[in-house]
Amino acid sequence: MVTLRLATRVEHDRIEMIFDLPRLLKSVDAYRQTLESFHAALRALSDLEPAYEALAIESGTIRRLTAIIEDLKDLDGDLNGTTATEPPRLNPAQRVGALYVIEGSALGGQIICQGLRGHFGPDTPVRFFAGLEKKTGAHWREFGQALDRFVLTYDCMDDVIDGARQMFHFMANSIEGGRPTIA
Ligand code: HEM
Repeated sequence: MVTLRLATRVEHDRIEMIFDLPRLLKSVDAYRQTLESFHAALRALSDLEPAYEALAIESGTIRRLTAIIEDLKDLDGDLNGTTATEPPRLNPAQRVGALYVIEGSALGGQIICQGLRGHFGPDTPVRFFAGLEKKTGAHWREFGQALDRFVLTYDCMDDVIDGARQMFHFMANSIEGGRPTIA
């Protein structure tokens, strides 16, 4: 998984910049808008499910969707939004790369959730970014081992990297597209 991290470092730095945590912490409205765009993107990603099967690990889709829906309900958010661009069409190995982006976002989620609680108070709905909380690290290691086994078995690192890059772009477009053009 180290190869994948190094190959997508630029994409991560870009999405971290677009995500713009300091801006998000300025108002609950900005936080709600970002959650709305994440929700729209996750809903559009229903075809990633086979990648969990390919890796033989438990799917996190329902848990994550439930968490974000609960947060948005608490914030009176829009649950019917759509994404600015179509999700990418991916082959099985590219889907595994895409899943890396979705699963990996939980790592930054720990920092994001601390920031949100610190700024807006301990009762702020942060189920989505909190994720598995203390179990996040263990889950990530399990995911990494499964991904490494998959790449070794199918010799498909190039496609996995390509899928991860496409997913980073899609998520970045979704976050940018979900924002009002006038700040
Ligand atoms: C303010 C926003 C963000 C911050 C501060 C942040 C920060 C971090 C941090 C600290 C790590 C852990 C690095 C490590 O343990 O080695 C990480 C990993 C990761 N993040 Fe983010 N992140 C942010 C947004 C995102 C978003 C929006 C996505 C994707 C949608 C994402 C995808 C990933 C991935 C895939 C990894 C795994 C990298 C690896 O292979 O170790 N991040 N991020």
